[in-house]
Amino acid sequence: MPNTYYNKLLANNKEWVEEMKGKDETYFEKLSKGQQPPVLWIGCADSRVPANQITGTLPGEIFVHRNIANMVVHTDMNMLSVLDYAVNHLKVKHIIVCGHYGCGGVQAAMQNKSLGLINKWIRNIKEVYKDNYTELIKISDDQKRFDRLVELNVKAQVYDLAKTSIVQQAWKDETGLQIHGWVYGLNDGIINDLKVSMDSAEHLNNLFRLDLEKTPV
Ligand code: CO
Repeated sequence: MPNTYYNKLLANNKEWVEEMKGKDETYFEKLSKGQQPPVLWIGCADSRVPANQITGTLPGEIFVHRNIANMVVHTDMNMLSVLDYAVNHLKVKHIIVCGHYGCGGVQAAMQNKSLGLINKWIRNIKEVYKDNYTELIKISDDQKRFDRLVELNVKAQVYDLAKTSIVQQAWKDETGLQIHGWVYGLNDGIINDLKVSMDSAEHLNNLFRLDLEKTPV
């Protein structure tokens, strides 16, 4: 099966293994014993936004969940399972929702084109557009409006994380969990911290605060 690109991936892997062992002979042995990542990353599936590379971190440091447009959809069992495992078993200290300027998922939400199955996913981003319509409609420049929706979408996902019982229980139990919103710039590699970090439910509309009991220790 002549497929040079595909074969190159496997060759690259062998080279990488040698490189890592060259730096630390016990590298894989140590990693195979378990993981204790301090961070859960909820990012876009976009190939240009790899969590480890852009934060200068190594395997073992970031537990990763990615989907189109870094969404926190409260009925998404995949996201909820990752969140539950990260918070309650791995005991991560930070959850970072990382979007990126130029996100195709967000752009699709600003248009009327039907994309088939993916319409159902994009629908969630259209709701963010609708919720922020009065702000967005004032931005006449298309690019600037697009950039702003990327930011507002990340902010909405951080709030949706805060609305989950998983995050609120961790806050009730005072585990020190913090949640954050970032936007990565594809054209300069810089991360824009949106300063929407939260470490309690106090910024949440009262309607979304759940009555929870502190977990007995
Ligand atoms: Co994207």
